[in-house]
Amino acid sequence: MKKSCFLALLLFLFGLKASAQTSSAVIEKKIEVLLKKMTLKEKIGQMNQLSADDMETNFKVIQQGMAGSVLSITNPEIANKAQRLAVEQTRLGIPLIFGRDVIHGFKTIFPIPLGQAASFNPGLVEKAARVAAVEASETGIRWTFAPMIDIARDPRWGRIAESCGEDPYLTSIMGIAMVNGFQGKNLSDPSSIAGCAKHFAGYGAAEGGRDYNTTAITERQFRNVYLVPFEQVVKKANLATIMTAFNANDGIPSSGNEFLLKEVLRKEWNFRGFVVSDWASINEMVDHGFSSDNKEAAEKAINAGVDMEMVSGTYVEYAESLWKEKKIAIETINDAVRNILRIKYSLGLFENPYVKGNTKEVFYKEEHLKIAEKLAEESIVLLKNEGQILPLQKPKTIAVFGPLANAPHDQMGTWVFDGDKDHTVTPLFALKEKYGENITIIYEPILKYSRDQDSTGFDKARKIAKEADVVLLFLGEESILSGEAHSLSDLNFQGLQSKLLETLQKTKTPLVTIIMAGRPLTIEKEVTQSNAVLYAWHPGTMGGPAIINLLFGIVNPSGKLPITFPKNVGQIPMYYGHLKTGRPANGSELNLNNIPIEASQTSLGNKSYYLDSGNEPLFPFGFGLSYTNFEYREIALSKTILKKDDILEITLSLKNTGNYQGTEIVQLYARDLAASVALPIRELKAFQRIDLKAGEEKRVMFKLPISDLAFYGMDMKKKVEAGKFDLWIGSNSISGEKVSFEVK
Ligand code: GLC
Repeated sequence: MKKSCFLALLLFLFGLKASAQTSSAVIEKKIEVLLKKMTLKEKIGQMNQLSADDMETNFKVIQQGMAGSVLSITNPEIANKAQRLAVEQTRLGIPLIFGRDVIHGFKTIFPIPLGQAASFNPGLVEKAARVAAVEASETGIRWTFAPMIDIARDPRWGRIAESCGEDPYLTSIMGIAMVNGFQGKNLSDPSSIAGCAKHFAGYGAAEGGRDYNTTAITERQFRNVYLVPFEQVVKKANLATIMTAFNANDGIPSSGNEFLLKEVLRKEWNFRGFVVSDWASINEMVDHGFSSDNKEAAEKAINAGVDMEMVSGTYVEYAESLWKEKKIAIETINDAVRNILRIKYSLGLFENPYVKGNTKEVFYKEEHLKIAEKLAEESIVLLKNEGQILPLQKPKTIAVFGPLANAPHDQMGTWVFDGDKDHTVTPLFALKEKYGENITIIYEPILKYSRDQDSTGFDKARKIAKEADVVLLFLGEESILSGEAHSLSDLNFQGLQSKLLETLQKTKTPLVTIIMAGRPLTIEKEVTQSNAVLYAWHPGTMGGPAIINLLFGIVNPSGKLPITFPKNVGQIPMYYGHLKTGRPANGSELNLNNIPIEASQTSLGNKSYYLDSGNEPLFPFGFGLSYTNFEYREIALSKTILKKDDILEITLSLKNTGNYQGTEIVQLYARDLAASVALPIRELKAFQRIDLKAGEEKRVMFKLPISDLAFYGMDMKKKVEAGKFDLWIGSNSISGEKVSFEVK
């Protein structure tokens, strides 16, 4: 590069950095100037978020300067009316920030986040979040309560649907992508919306998978597992806000947890955004038995570091008296208001408080729907394909059954407040539209919804199936059975779905089962009885075309499970990154089917496994089939003895040995064999999406910084410990060739 160009580039980069600094220096200055003008009441007002239930009352509160935010206004006119009251009729004219749960799309609905994680495609996930921001911001929303990056390892928990699954690394990568998509390149762009990582922290570890239940996470587990994604989005995605969780960990509700909110979030991570409570999670500290009344709850939350209170109103009611009684310091209030104003300035709300509301041009744009279709295609996981029945080979007659074949509402999944079901393209609709002219399609739901107990249509189903070349059976969960507060103690198919599948299987017509659900279901029997199984999660607005494209081979499935599928509920919790224990089973142990009569007490070997279901899942994390096959060859390490600041290069050759173009998600796992504390038997450290034509071979390289092997050990300090390591490169969390190296 010529010297002049190089200098120009340097000046440009310095200019960028300088402008970023000046803009943050400018913002800090503006904050201090404004803060000095604010009365205590006005400061407390900024810390108060209203819900949009009663706007007439809200308008009065806003006009009194006692609200900093409103959640769930989605009508641009109402948003502008509320904003005009704040900006033009209060003493200081501080704009409101409007928030909303835009979890997996606003109008164009994408697969549920658990499905998005199955794509292992952060670039596409970021595009989807960007679309969500573009659509939502058009109504005045500039803040979403997403991404939800709780590590979830219990499918009984309905909110696993909103999560990115069980793995801290994959959740971190997906969380960063979502925040970058929401926040865009510049938070002050009117199409950018502030991200809100939630729920801080450990909410997904609810005992028994029962929502809102107690968690008992040790500090080490917090630091090595549950906090990892939050730290990553704070440090790598410039996260704007964080939401506290409902759960009490070790008896301390998150909204009153100073260790999390001050020690970790502020001191260790230097988080500069603001913290919002979850819905009424502050006054719920009275229910927890952590506060005697709402006033004490307000005191504990303010002192713990919750900057803004979502809807429970204890701050506006008690903060002034708490200050007078010296139970909270004015500096605490000032810091909370600084954090809130910092995000409002960063969003450009002072310069640009109103919204144009050109919703018609923005909602459901063709390019938005294309991204939704592609993400749905890449999120769907092929779990079984016996005899390569898929992709379908020009069947003449297709029988379509099941409650999810044409379910526009349920197909969108949980946490959909603004998506319109009349925009959903169902599999039945897509099949007819694309193939209806040259294939005979016979459709009968047989079961009207997932819990349906009415078997009167079964005879009809039997007759139709016998006449068809293939049966497509769409089963799963209604969306109401998934999501917040919707915990299940039994993960078998609801209603008579399983019976319907068995009935169809007995007709011997090839049976393809497509499952739409918000969680792993216990489907061992149904998988056995099906010739092929696709797991589509709740695939969103364009789930129909996506499924049809996969069934007919227009697209080759590439999705991989972001969550372990247990054989039954009794195996839960079951996740790949578990500790080995002192008595690991190896899968060859005796079980209920072959234990001898009067076997002696210790004859089974005393290993860690279930006599009735072993200790292997139905499907492991990272699992997913393709219509083609991939061969891993020549895995080599750049070194086998490394220093702690080295970068280990791992190379391999990957060949598509089948007849279809395909994408393989190559996964790299590592294990520290012996350390100051016991560590997981495997941990995902990297992955790559590799596209290969039929017969094509590529060299693949991973660069693994040894620093990525750091963890919090016995001394609770994060570091790499010297010793021996194993490393696997493969297509899921239980396969792959093992290689070893040592860190000195
Ligand atoms: C809910 C959820 C939280 C959501 C908030 C606002 O109860 O826990 O995830 O963002 O309230 O709707």
